[in-house]
Amino acid sequence: MSQLVVTGGQRLVGRVRAGGRKNSAVAVLPAAALLVDGPSVLDNVPDIQDVAVFCEILRAMGAGIEVRPANGSEPQRLVIRPGTGGDKAPPEALVKRLRASYYLLGVLLARCGRAEVPFPGGCDIGTRNIDQHIKGFTALGARVWVEHGVVKAEARRLVGAPVYLDVVSVGATINIMLAATLAEGTTIIENAAKEPHVVDLANYLNAAGARVKGAGTDTIKITGVERLAGADHALIPDEIEAATYMIAAAATGGDVTVENVIPKHLESVTAKLAETGATVEENGDSIRVVSADRPRPVTVKTLPYPGFPTDAQQPITSLLSVASGTSIITETIFEGRFRHVDELKRMGSRVTVEGRTAIVEGVDHLTGAEVTAPDLRGAAALVIAGLMARGETRIHEIEHLERGYERPVEKLTSLGAEVRLE
Ligand code: EPZ
Repeated sequence: MSQLVVTGGQRLVGRVRAGGRKNSAVAVLPAAALLVDGPSVLDNVPDIQDVAVFCEILRAMGAGIEVRPANGSEPQRLVIRPGTGGDKAPPEALVKRLRASYYLLGVLLARCGRAEVPFPGGCDIGTRNIDQHIKGFTALGARVWVEHGVVKAEARRLVGAPVYLDVVSVGATINIMLAATLAEGTTIIENAAKEPHVVDLANYLNAAGARVKGAGTDTIKITGVERLAGADHALIPDEIEAATYMIAAAATGGDVTVENVIPKHLESVTAKLAETGATVEENGDSIRVVSADRPRPVTVKTLPYPGFPTDAQQPITSLLSVASGTSIITETIFEGRFRHVDELKRMGSRVTVEGRTAIVEGVDHLTGAEVTAPDLRGAAALVIAGLMARGETRIHEIEHLERGYERPVEKLTSLGAEVRLE
């Protein structure tokens, strides 16, 4: 297991480019590799572990995926020739490494009428049900059951139907949308998630010949079609990667411009950082963050988009650890998303967790320590804490970070950070 050594006290200054959206890539990839029956070219694909692992899974299932590596400002591009999907099971060891493998259920059900996918892995941030996914597939006429840790589903023919989601679920919204594209008739998803990557996937599917309307609202209508032809598509920028660098700038007394963003996707993060006293300027497809002397305490409540994103909760907790007062953070999406707090305490932060609420009493400064990354965004939180702290921080199990952040050492170093992998 590699470790990241962070020497604190460096201001982050300069420009950094956000890569493509991780959670969009892991939704479009299975569609391009198994749902459509023609080739696709995907641009602005983030160069991250979750994408590399998913490509391995999809190749093992018969898809052809050619990678054109990132080159300077040219982001990574994938040329995908779909497989038939039905003949090869996804490799269990790989499926367990990422949560988004559950999208294989939606695409295989639609394309082949049957699916067998081991229960998905991913960050341990709470009980990550898939009951709403199953509710949707069942409404479309599939039989779904779990056997020996494998989710199995079959349907002679998927028939469009209304689905009301009991929980606003990004995964269920996307999975049901995928299954409904080739169903007979119309599916209406009510109480749907509105995240930008739901819209990004819908745009890809429509470019491939699907009929998806209303993505980005809480009601999505999908009219089934006979086949999908594949399409060329550029993924949206990763607003969570951008948010992480914005928060890191505010946390290190820095002045950073994050390029290749869609400011609208970051409105809640921009507003919250401004509340802490940072100066945040939107300039077309970039956002500049200039740190305040010391962050002011704020109240953060994570909510489905367009609310404050749960994926930015852990990074902003690090910033608020040195605020000039006490902040209250309420995590309404995942009940187990405070595992980074114990590690922050080793660096001197004063955080009390009560259920879904963290009370963060600002301290004067953090000090470097040996810490262990609990999950992807927890790893990001510890990197930010290490950048802010006095002395050296050694972050164990840093593999979590590489799942969702593109070339983090290179990007941080370009901003003046002293970080090294060991
Ligand atoms: C996606 O997870 C993202 N992962 C997460 O990003 C993100 O935090 C989350 O959406 C919320 O935005 C991917 O896209 C691969 P949900 P997902 O279904 O789909 C409950 C990151 O750091 N729920 O929107 O698992 C669930 O338990 C990762 O990039 C059910 O009860 O999230 C949670 O409390 C972490 N039943 C809430 O809904 C279900 O069937 C939201 O979950 C599904 C979900």
